[in-house]
Amino acid sequence: MKITLSVIKADIGGYVGHSCTHPDVVKTTEEYARKFIGDLIIDLKVLTCGDDIALVMTHQHGVDSEKIHKLAWDAFSAGTEVAKKLKLYGAGQDLLTDAFSGNIKGLGPGVAEMEFEERPSEPVIVYFADKTSPSAWNLALYEMFASPMNTAGLVIDPKMHEGFTFTVLDVYTGKAVKLSTPAELYDLLALISSASKYVVKEVHRNIDGEIAAVASIQKLSLIAGQYVGKDDPVMIVRTQSGFPAVGEALEPFARPWIVEGWMRGSHNGPIMPVSFEDATPSRFDGPPRVIAAGFQIANGMLVGPRDMFKDKAYDYARKVASDIANILRRQGIFEPHRLPSEEMEYTTLPKVIEKLSSRFFDMDTNVSSDKSNMLAKEDMD
Ligand code: F6R
Ligand code: MG
Ligand code: MG
Repeated sequence: MKITLSVIKADIGGYVGHSCTHPDVVKTTEEYARKFIGDLIIDLKVLTCGDDIALVMTHQHGVDSEKIHKLAWDAFSAGTEVAKKLKLYGAGQDLLTDAFSGNIKGLGPGVAEMEFEERPSEPVIVYFADKTSPSAWNLALYEMFASPMNTAGLVIDPKMHEGFTFTVLDVYTGKAVKLSTPAELYDLLALISSASKYVVKEVHRNIDGEIAAVASIQKLSLIAGQYVGKDDPVMIVRTQSGFPAVGEALEPFARPWIVEGWMRGSHNGPIMPVSFEDATPSRFDGPPRVIAAGFQIANGMLVGPRDMFKDKAYDYARKVASDIANILRRQGIFEPHRLPSEEMEYTTLPKVIEKLSSRFFDMDTNVSSDKSNMLAKEDMD
């Protein structure tokens, strides 16, 4: 049975600020989408992470289905009505236009979709993060699908031994490249270690071309050249029987690393794996959170979710993430906690700096860039 798994997410209003969703908004969004079960969609589950809501849907309309995208758009629009009534923060913020136009990509919400023949048993994990961007998945996907130090199956399982091919997007040009590992591992790392420029879009298994993972980056690719950066991401990973074991797919998150997107999308912070309940970034609007929702798919039905990071084995990772958060917060507004200048170009900081431009003068000649300010240096002396 061929199944499409679509995960479509949006921030349609924060409660309070950007820290969480409101239960009434989630309820209304879910109730709207639920009406289509047994008709347009086979099954639906709703996840939340921070101020974002994700619709996890199974159906048989393939990826990029206008009907499915419209369903999600309308469900988020219904939720937005409630968010507006409650005057939630940024109500409807991810619905960038007034009207749906064929494909939800580029209209605001994030989309991760894959179509596959359902296996005799189909365990998948949906990852969902807040206060970071799709580039946060780069390190995790490398470890899951290309590092034998993380994924023992790359060495042991003959179906994985041929490796995996990564599709990598340059978010500034919109161009993508496919790199096959292990042969091109170092080329892959040469790109995706520049996480603010290159983002892994999807991963396929080399032995048969099966889709293994997909991340929500389409919005970035559509508006390439005008990088909008932080788009709290979702990702789907298929597991077991020739894909990473569930534990191998979760293992990268046991050792938190530093990602972009904390406070005002302008700071680096540790990615903290948390239970569904703890996906409520508050400290300095963070630190960035990730949840992992495990599902078994049975004839298109979503059996789950299981809250995978609720496991006590991740307590240590949460402690490490808090320690990293403390170290970075000591930097205050200073780099490298705050993002480097090139990336701040896409924030409101340049407007602040622009106001100072006329006051700059040449240190050697004392000549100001603004003639009316010739004496600037002398004044200062
Ligand atoms: C949102 C985020 C937050 C906001 C911050 C300022 O994803 O990262 O940290 O950027 O709360 O929000 P505004 O500018 O709306 O006051
Ligand atoms: Mg928000
Ligand atoms: Mg968010």
